[in-house]
Amino acid sequence: MRISLQEAAARLQNGEVVAIPTETVYGLAADATNDIALQKIFTTKQRPADHPLIVHIADISQVNEWAAEFPEVAVKLARAFWPGALTLILPAKNHVSRVVRGGEPTIALRVPNHPVALELLRLSKLSVAAPSANLFTQLSPTTAAHVEAGLGASIPVLDGGACQVGIESTIVSVATDGEWQLLRPGMISEADIAKVVGKPQRKTVSEYAMNKANAKTLTPKAPGQHALHYSPRTPLLLFKDRAALLETSEQLINTGKTCAALLMGDGNKPRCHTAQLSNQPAEVAEKLYGALHQLDALKVDRLLVELPPDSPSWAAVLDRLSRAGFNKEI
Ligand code: TXA
Ligand code: MG
Repeated sequence: MRISLQEAAARLQNGEVVAIPTETVYGLAADATNDIALQKIFTTKQRPADHPLIVHIADISQVNEWAAEFPEVAVKLARAFWPGALTLILPAKNHVSRVVRGGEPTIALRVPNHPVALELLRLSKLSVAAPSANLFTQLSPTTAAHVEAGLGASIPVLDGGACQVGIESTIVSVATDGEWQLLRPGMISEADIAKVVGKPQRKTVSEYAMNKANAKTLTPKAPGQHALHYSPRTPLLLFKDRAALLETSEQLINTGKTCAALLMGDGNKPRCHTAQLSNQPAEVAEKLYGALHQLDALKVDRLLVELPPDSPSWAAVLDRLSRAGFNKEI
């Protein structure tokens, strides 16, 4: 159900959940100071309650309402990238709801770079907690239609068009001593962060978390570590090269199975439905979830996905694809 900006603001003030556009993905928003409203996010998403949420604020001046400290390194990052696709994890003030923090001593903050989201924050005079507006472990939505397809037609959605970044924000935690760690790669790269901070990240557990072979052994606090995070419903096979993808498609077709393929750039195509993305990381990120939603809707037996090169500019796209195809790489 599509609603207006005014209605979205009124519903949020009334303690209801509303799906909202951001430049990364659509979020399922609720008043970040209202525990009953926050609980509705978890029940709607069927998400475990110990998963912390990102609080979306209107501008940098609101950080001090949530964070007990705002280390100089974090100030630099906020000035460089907000509004934008960067989430900062900072020590939380004591009064911040345990529901929004998922029991953590820290709080995740982001100023979204979307005119409709920013207008909603100003109009409602609220800060809103918003995880991606999808069922837990399913694909994130990048259009209002994706939200409705995933959460049902009755979910109130503020339609702000298709998301321009297309994958979730980069998450960086900054400790009191100014050391930083990348917790989730995004289109703001590790190199972009290191350049602004002036030093590399502290070697971390999060590098361990990035290695999907270790993913299932971690506690549920590190982002995206769940084996089936960001997954389409159709089983996904990942391929490092086109030749292997073509070979598997032939084997599937010859044994009476149906498949569809997501391809990066030009080249030979398999004899099945395909979606072709470009060879530019930002363009692929923007279209990635849309293409996966579209291929998933075909309800074929297997989705075949060509992986981009394993280089830093593709880190975020590779992260999302390897999580979607957990344990199924060929
Ligand atoms: O782009 C985005 O970040 C989108 C849009 C809606 O802003 N939001 C999003 O939220 O991706 P979600 O809940 O799907 O992912 C947020 C991640 C979770 O994996 C959560 O574990 C992590 O952020 N997170 C939140 N607070 C944290 C904290 N205090 N410490 C560590 N991780 C935290
Ligand atoms: Mg999510």
